[in-house]
Amino acid sequence: MRSLAGFAAALLGAGRLAQAVQVLQLYQFPNATQFIENIAIRRNGELLLSTFDDGRLYALDPLAKDPEPRVVAKVPDATGLTGIAEIEPDMFAVSCGINNLTDFSMVEGSAKLVVVDFNKVTDGVTPTVKTFFAMIPNARMLNGMAPLPYIRSVLMSADSKNGRVFRTDYFKNGKSDVAFEDRKLAPGKDPKLATLGINGVKIVHMWLYFTNSERQTIGRLRIDEFGNRKGPVEEIVRLPASSGLMPDDFSMFYNGTMFVAAHPNSVLKILPDGTWTALVGGDSAAKLDGPTSTALTRDGKTLYVVTGGTGSGRGGQVVAVTL
Ligand SMILES: *[C@@H]1O[C@H](CO)[C@@H](O)[C@H](O)[C@H]1NC(C)=O
Ligand SMILES: *[C@@H]1O[C@H](CO)[C@@H](O)[C@H](O)[C@H]1NC(C)=O
Ligand SMILES: *[C@@H]1O[C@H](CO)[C@@H](O)[C@H](O)[C@H]1NC(C)=O
Repeated sequence: MRSLAGFAAALLGAGRLAQAVQVLQLYQFPNATQFIENIAIRRNGELLLSTFDDGRLYALDPLAKDPEPRVVAKVPDATGLTGIAEIEPDMFAVSCGINNLTDFSMVEGSAKLVVVDFNKVTDGVTPTVKTFFAMIPNARMLNGMAPLPYIRSVLMSADSKNGRVFRTDYFKNGKSDVAFEDRKLAPGKDPKLATLGINGVKIVHMWLYFTNSERQTIGRLRIDEFGNRKGPVEEIVRLPASSGLMPDDFSMFYNGTMFVAAHPNSVLKILPDGTWTALVGGDSAAKLDGPTSTALTRDGKTLYVVTGGTGSGRGGQVVAVTL
């Protein structure tokens, strides 16, 4: 059911007030197991939702009168789908594994990438799923993922547990290696919020941007066109520990503005100079149940936000924020 969640008043971030935005809930899954981990937008405007719902990838038309999700793929031998990245028009790589919810890891040996291809539909609507294009058995938790800008078949994937980035080439039979690792990408020695470090990944102008959930940081590092590291990890924002905000996945506009989903209930807007505001969140009328990721439309006017759900009651939400 489409309901007006309300207008969110901006919170004060680093000394700057954001404008009020309109926030509209498009859908909420009924079941707590239907945690939405990530989102991508197809060229036809449909939203793809990766979930922890027994390996299911859903699609949702955000412009429908009463948007209802449909299952577009069920990945075998996986319970949780995490990162999604478009590697060719309407062809998406999805990272997944068997979730171990005790410590938010993937069961040893289960991490892999699959491809969901909407260019090859079976019954008019259901995409082809190419499984096992890459097994990444030594990844502890594959999370956010981004294609290299000039070689889109090469995917850069966060391993949140070990503070490293895997690089996998779809056209080289899923050959993968560790592109780089860094202490600043790891959760740290004595995790308090989550045992997850690097979470979301996006590449813009040959900078790899990332969030680190446990360290409450948003940062970047220089890479070359092959995904090799070319410089140190730079910190753009360190959220105050007292804020309790834990950054998850995000989207980035070509002007350098980031829209970061942050637990427990916020979406942060971060400008290239590091100033940030909470676009949605806090005690605003729009209630987000554990934001996990965002996706921005090509025109930069609508931001879709997905959430994990309330934990025990309802499942993940899909929310549209008009910027
Ligand atoms: C909710 O998820 C559980 C576990 O997958 C399942 O057993 C149950 O049938 C689901 N309930 C609904 C209403 O879909
Ligand atoms: C899940 O994680 C816990 C804590 O690290 C570990 O003890 C357990 O063996 C893991 N379970 C599986 C099936 O990997
Ligand atoms: C960049 O684009 C986003 C999305 O439309 C917008 O919210 C933001 O204000 C823009 N930033 C600047 C500096 O113009």
